[in-house]
Amino acid sequence: MSEICKNWTSWLKSTRFAYMDEEQLKQTMAWLISVRDEILNLADLKENQKIADFGCGSGLLAFGVLERFQNRVELIFSDKFKDCLDECKKILNSSNTLNNAYFLQSDITDIKLKDNYLDRALTRSVLVHVLDKQKAFCELYRVLKKGGYYCAFEPIISQNTRYSELTNQDEISDYNDFKKAEDEFMEAKDDPLVNFNSDSLKENMENAGFSEINLDIKIVSSTYTPQKEAVKTWFNIPPAPGQRTMKDRFLDYFDEKKVDNYILEVQEALSGKEININSKTAHIKAGK
Ligand SMILES: C[S@@+](CC[C@H](N)C(=O)[O-])C[C@H]1O[C@@H](n2cnc3c(N)ncnc32)[C@H](O)[C@@H]1O
Repeated sequence: MSEICKNWTSWLKSTRFAYMDEEQLKQTMAWLISVRDEILNLADLKENQKIADFGCGSGLLAFGVLERFQNRVELIFSDKFKDCLDECKKILNSSNTLNNAYFLQSDITDIKLKDNYLDRALTRSVLVHVLDKQKAFCELYRVLKKGGYYCAFEPIISQNTRYSELTNQDEISDYNDFKKAEDEFMEAKDDPLVNFNSDSLKENMENAGFSEINLDIKIVSSTYTPQKEAVKTWFNIPPAPGQRTMKDRFLDYFDEKKVDNYILEVQEALSGKEININSKTAHIKAGK
């Protein structure tokens, strides 16, 4: 496990932005705000509702709700980890926002709320970190009132562009072996980041009992001209605290010398070249 990524708060505050230049940072922040606003608009929030941001992290969605409604809604900041809730409390105390906000330390697969409690349940990039997604959907369904909605944005990492699609046999030694390894670990059933796709999300929601399911799958296409160092960091930055890096994943299949050589060849192949990366995202509105 990487030392640069000890807990969610430090990941959210710094690791995810590591090695970004000012322009990339600006773009990422603008993107986060646009995703936040999309979820909040989709949720059709109204005064007096009971709203929870599950896996709130540093409160992207919850603070967005507060900005819109101050204390005219009941708002729950919920996360599995205390460091995230402490961070949100700190932000809340340092602003003078009047509020009706509560903090709930809870795993999304075992939510410490009674049945039929919420009008809205929100998540952004949370289920992607949960191994048992079916259990999470059942819990989200249980805590929603009849007529309530779950609204979310979740990345579908298993369907993103892979290194094997960005490179070819002329550029990479043992290309087919590396492709095979990548295809295998990018769909591993025991890895929460990749153990799902758009079909399984829909199936999980139906199984949980959601009746009105709106699952909008988008492909975000980004064009980069990465530099050599940036390509290297893609292999070395953990995608979440406690999660193994891409390099770690390749090390399950090959020895370190071979993986280092592969990374070097990918760096050579991609640096200074315009590349197109597709990311698949799920935009969810599901009603009870
Ligand atoms: C990528 S962060 C997203 C944070 C926030 N929603 C945002 O949009 O910035 C993932 C969050 O999910 C939380 N999380 C991970 N597993 C969880 C679980 N099983 N139950 C509840 N929260 C969880 C983490 O603590 C972290 O805050």
